Amino acid sequence: MKFETPAQDNPVDQLKVVGRPHDRIDGPLKTTGTAPYAYEWHDEVDKVAYGYVIGSAIAKGRITSVDTRAAKNAPGVLSVITADNAGKLGKGEMNAATLLGGPTIEHYHQAIGVVVAETFEQARAAAALVEVNYQRERGAWDLAEEKPGVTTPPEDTPDKKVGDFDRAFDSAAVQFDATYTTPDQSHMAMEPHASMAVWEGEKLTLWTTNQMINWCHSDLAKTLNIPQENIRVRSPYIGGGFGGKLFLRSDALLAALGARAIQRPVKVMLTRPMIPNNTTHRPATIQRVRIGADESGHISAIAHESWNGNLPGGPTETATNQTELLYAGANRLTGLRLAKLDLPEGNSMRAPGEAPGMMVLEIAMDEMAEKLGIDPVEFRILNDTQVDPANPERPFSQRQLIECLRTGAEHFGWQQRNPTPAQVRDGRWLVGMGMAAGFRNNLVTPSGARVRLDAHGTVTVETDMTDIGTGSYTIIAQTAAEMMGVPIEKVVVKLGDSTFPISSGSGGQWGGNSSTAGVYAACVKLREAVADRLGIDASSAMFTDEQVRVGERSIPLREAAAQSELVAEDKIEFGDLAEKYQQSTFAGHFVEVAVDSATGEVRVRRMLAVCAAGRILNPKTARSQVIGAMTMGLGAALMEELAVDTRLGFFVNHDMAGYEVPVHADVPQQEVIFLDETDPISSPMKAKGVGELGICGVSAAIANAIYNATGVRVRDYPITLDKLLHGLPDPV
Ligand code: MOS
Repeated sequence: MKFETPAQDNPVDQLKVVGRPHDRIDGPLKTTGTAPYAYEWHDEVDKVAYGYVIGSAIAKGRITSVDTRAAKNAPGVLSVITADNAGKLGKGEMNAATLLGGPTIEHYHQAIGVVVAETFEQARAAAALVEVNYQRERGAWDLAEEKPGVTTPPEDTPDKKVGDFDRAFDSAAVQFDATYTTPDQSHMAMEPHASMAVWEGEKLTLWTTNQMINWCHSDLAKTLNIPQENIRVRSPYIGGGFGGKLFLRSDALLAALGARAIQRPVKVMLTRPMIPNNTTHRPATIQRVRIGADESGHISAIAHESWNGNLPGGPTETATNQTELLYAGANRLTGLRLAKLDLPEGNSMRAPGEAPGMMVLEIAMDEMAEKLGIDPVEFRILNDTQVDPANPERPFSQRQLIECLRTGAEHFGWQQRNPTPAQVRDGRWLVGMGMAAGFRNNLVTPSGARVRLDAHGTVTVETDMTDIGTGSYTIIAQTAAEMMGVPIEKVVVKLGDSTFPISSGSGGQWGGNSSTAGVYAACVKLREAVADRLGIDASSAMFTDEQVRVGERSIPLREAAAQSELVAEDKIEFGDLAEKYQQSTFAGHFVEVAVDSATGEVRVRRMLAVCAAGRILNPKTARSQVIGAMTMGLGAALMEELAVDTRLGFFVNHDMAGYEVPVHADVPQQEVIFLDETDPISSPMKAKGVGELGICGVSAAIANAIYNATGVRVRDYPITLDKLLHGLPDPV
């Protein structure tokens, strides 16, 4: 199905199942520990062996020798695989560094081998016996040091200019110019990267944990130099991804190589301390924002430049995305700069681009509002735009930013905020409020699905879509139930298998809307097949209460499949509506913090997000996504940072003792309000992404609340107490 014109009324609009706060249908499996994760499919096969990954101990240079003799002779060891005996490997489209390094080393903890043994403990013990000698080289590991040398944009991301920024900024009555930093961050999904590989002759089955089955599938074939049809990838349950599992990673490749070497199933899990340096991370940025406005606060000039570093072939962090679109202003400049760094590959982490971009832009807006003497909510509203500022012919499909901000301010009690910093005390605590806009683009991606109807009237959906903890199973079931007129209990959803039609996968907050739109398309076909079987006209048939109704006639749905199962497959494909209209999602974030006036400890007291993100397919799972994202934004504001050792080139705090993420005690109260909205430009579901919107802006709202509480403006994330202490007012 081609989606080329705005959606009309369709069966989803009935909202009998869609739009309701259904519990997750996979919930009982998750809460009883019976949803098998990648490392837990051992019941499927016999005699599973364990692989333990060896990571490079240097960040750049060469392996001069590897001695595996002691390891091979260790108890239980079945094989030791390194680049020397792995055979010729290719490289995946989506990988910057090779997944099995050697002799050249591209980054610290790059996998250089896997020890396969009867037990995990034997593999781990033997891995310690592998003797590797290196020739260490000096690399580029410090973004701040590399930055001055990087003044031109990467070829694929030229600067974007509207009007004449320099002139408008120079002549602006009020000017603001500041530079900020965001650190490297790790996804820290609860489930580590893990895979189990089984070969039968030439055929490989890989159980893994991956957000994008098709990317994993094609890159594994490329890396192993075998035809894609010889590989089956299965990833039906995933314990969090956040972008860290978008790609084929070393666990999958090494499980496949290990299993091939010993002709037995092999599973490989990356240990927690391997993950930050072995896999991808969100790259650190240095960002400069300049804003020029007239005395009344109308922005005339806005510029945002962002620097990040990466390995050759690694992406640029598009931290200026939102600055192209969020506020009005006739003169604009956005630019990206990419330095070559020899740190592990930087890549997508929840809301790549906007998450770090909003961390900065929305502090800058707060600072500018203060400079102008305007309330920060009003300053944003004053500079709202309903069209793409670079192309005024191009409207937003929906844009309720003002409504988000007004609703949030009202609901949160914003008028009680004292705009003068460091005035409000609660015992030893300094109390403050902060806010920020939320913004994340809405992306749409082709997505396929197959639906079946059987003689019991059960509808089965098959798609390679994944559920990374987001609720995909549930919204897909809701969609199929709505379309076929059956209760949700009569829908079976099968996900995460490369034998199913290729879906959007889970990434970029496109998965919910795109994958359900694919299921919608397949269900339209199935309805036609049903009508055909029953000898009725599909367009006038109503599918409801497990019946197909035409006029006075009512036929049980299952009768259409009485003779044989009905199967339909289709794919949603998007036309140029995304070019004609700007599709984005919006929020207002409001936060209250308390800062200990003696120690600088920050406690977030209340958080509110008001979101406008198209139709909310399931308010319960959507709310969970948003509060999860708000929590992640809190982590980014206050604690998350991969500390770079700039002498040796690696992330030092590569475990969950050193890399802190928020826990329940860090988040006392969170509230989410969804504005009533449908977006017929986005898809037949009229939904948009929401899972990444929730993180975009939160950290800045916290930073702004800390400033309001203390009078200390911190421009370098995370805002740890050492950055506050020097400026705290005297304790009373
Ligand atoms: Mo998302 S960072 O594309 O999983």
